[in-house]
Amino acid sequence: MRFTINGEDIDVKADIRTSLLDLLRNNLGFTGTKKGCDQGACGACTVLVDGERINSCLALAVQYQGRSITTVEGLASNGNLHPLQQAFIEHEGFQCGYCTPGQLCSAIGMMGEVNRNVPSVVTKQLMAASVALDEIELRERMSGNLCRCGAYNGIVDAISQALVETRNKAKEGTPA
Ligand code: FES
Ligand code: FES
Repeated sequence: MRFTINGEDIDVKADIRTSLLDLLRNNLGFTGTKKGCDQGACGACTVLVDGERINSCLALAVQYQGRSITTVEGLASNGNLHPLQQAFIEHEGFQCGYCTPGQLCSAIGMMGEVNRNVPSVVTKQLMAASVALDEIELRERMSGNLCRCGAYNGIVDAISQALVETRNKAKEGTPA
């Protein structure tokens, strides 16, 4: 099977029944992506496919050939952490860190959804020109990613600083 993972073309032999999560971790060594429940309930295995967040434990790898897959290993660039990774450190958005790769990928995918005005179950103004991303929206949109350490307050603060404030500044036309 052929994949594009973190910008690299990768050819790998794998059982046709392999999940994307197992392919990443077991066949290719991208162990940043975590296996929590292995049944779509915890979000630890979240990765980005063409910028969209998915639970890789529920995905058959064979279906994702030719797509652009990003794992947590692909977020930093040129030796610099992604601003969201830096914000997680500054706001103590983790304790054991097990859920963190999924939280990071999920938050980036979430911002893409918000920027495309995809509503959530708590969105009040469905006809608004852009979704108002307050804390209730943010928590709801990140609710598929569980943290057994309970680092939620730090996670929300980190996402708010790195992604929400940047979005708001971009909308206002001021440099981030
Ligand atoms: S391991 Fe995929 S959602 Fe829990
Ligand atoms: S930091 Fe430990 S599970 Fe979230």
